[in-house]
Amino acid sequence: MQAQQQILRLLSLSAFLLASSQGGAQSSVSEFNTVSTIRDLMDSVIDPNADALWESVRTEINETGVHVYQPETDADWLALRHNVVSLIEGGNSLLIPGRRVAPEGAGTDPEIPYAYPPEQIQTALENERPVFNGFASAFQSVAMQLLNAVDARDVNALDESGELLDQACEACHSYFWYPPAPAN
Ligand code: HEC
Repeated sequence: MQAQQQILRLLSLSAFLLASSQGGAQSSVSEFNTVSTIRDLMDSVIDPNADALWESVRTEINETGVHVYQPETDADWLALRHNVVSLIEGGNSLLIPGRRVAPEGAGTDPEIPYAYPPEQIQTALENERPVFNGFASAFQSVAMQLLNAVDARDVNALDESGELLDQACEACHSYFWYPPAPAN
C-alpha cells in the first residue's frame, strides 16, 4: 500500500512538472524524452529493422547452388511485422523535435570521411526542420506500404517496397548526412 502511495505521489509530481514546463509559449522543454540522438535511432531502431526486412527476400549463389530465401512460416511473417512496426515508430521518433544528431563532441564516422560533421548536420536540422520532417514522413509512408505487404503476405510487394525503403533512406542521407554521389 505504501509503495502504491509513493508511486501516486511520483505520478502527480511529474504531472505537475510537465504542466509547469508547458506554461510558457517559449518553453523548449519537450514532453518527450529526447535523450537518444538521431545516430542512436539509426543504429538501434532504423538500421537493424530495415536490414531484417531487406534480408527477408534474397537470392544467394554459392558453390552449392542458387538459394532463394523468402518468408514462409507464420513465425517468419510475425517477425517481419515486428520489424515494420518498429520502422513506423522509428519514423515517429525522427519527427520528435529537440534531439541532437550525435553526442556532443562526436566526430564523423571514420568509414564515411566525406560525411558532414555532426555539428553541421545539427545546424542544417535546426534551419531546415520541415525538410527533415518531409523525408521522415516519406520514409514512414514506405514503412506503411511494407506493413500492407506483410499483412497481405505478398512477397513481391515486400521486395518492391524494400527497394523504395532504400530510396527513402538515401533521400534523407544525401541531403543531411553526406553530399549526393556525383552523377556519372
Ligand atoms: C529523415 C532522415 C533520415 C532517414 C529517413 C534515414 N536516416 Fe539514417 N541518418 C540520418 C542522419 C541525419 C544521419 C547522420 C547522423 C550522424 O551524423 O551520425 C544518419 C545516419 C545513419 C547511419 C549511421 C549511424 C552512425 O552510427 O554513424 C545509418 C547506419 C543509417 N543512418 C541508416 C539508415 C537506414 C537504413 C535508413 C532507412 C531504412 C535511414 N537511415 C533513414 C537521417 C535519416
